[in-house]
Amino acid sequence: MPETEEGILRSEFRWAVIAVGMVSVIMLALIYAGLVQHINPPSNIETIDPNTLHLTGEFTEADLGTFVDATGQVTSRIVATQFTFQPQCFVVPANRLVTLRFASPDVVHGILITGTNVNTMVVPGYVSQVHTVFTKTGDLLMPCHEYCGLGHSQMWATVRVVPEDEFKPDAAGRASCASG
Ligand code: CUA
Repeated sequence: MPETEEGILRSEFRWAVIAVGMVSVIMLALIYAGLVQHINPPSNIETIDPNTLHLTGEFTEADLGTFVDATGQVTSRIVATQFTFQPQCFVVPANRLVTLRFASPDVVHGILITGTNVNTMVVPGYVSQVHTVFTKTGDLLMPCHEYCGLGHSQMWATVRVVPEDEFKPDAAGRASCASG
């Protein structure tokens, strides 16, 4: 078939429409994931002053660990510091949405929880937030996976996943490994 000028223009226009359409679908999927499904970068781009972490706000010692708020939302706050986690063990219920929030007062750490998809860096100056649902009960290992100094290999915590009916926060909404 002989190519006419008009035929070539039509063909180019068709491909332009396809390309713009594909890019639009990808852009809409990204916007939908971010705004509707709340799928964001692990850092959540939330800043915090590493120098006053332990003095004020949600990462003071009394507020660390797992809390359930009035709406039933489960949140665990953990400080990653050379070379330990605070608390060393935290408890979460299985099959419920759990929000994990991490902060570091010193250097860059990283965490993963074995057997789950939880994996994030913990960078001083930022709150690292992860939403997840634990489906398997038991004690899971949460090691630091970013070299942070001489004690790096000794830095880990335990995530205790208990069946929902064994998850019993106290009157203040607090649940810890000691209380079960
Ligand atoms: Cu903290 Cu390695």
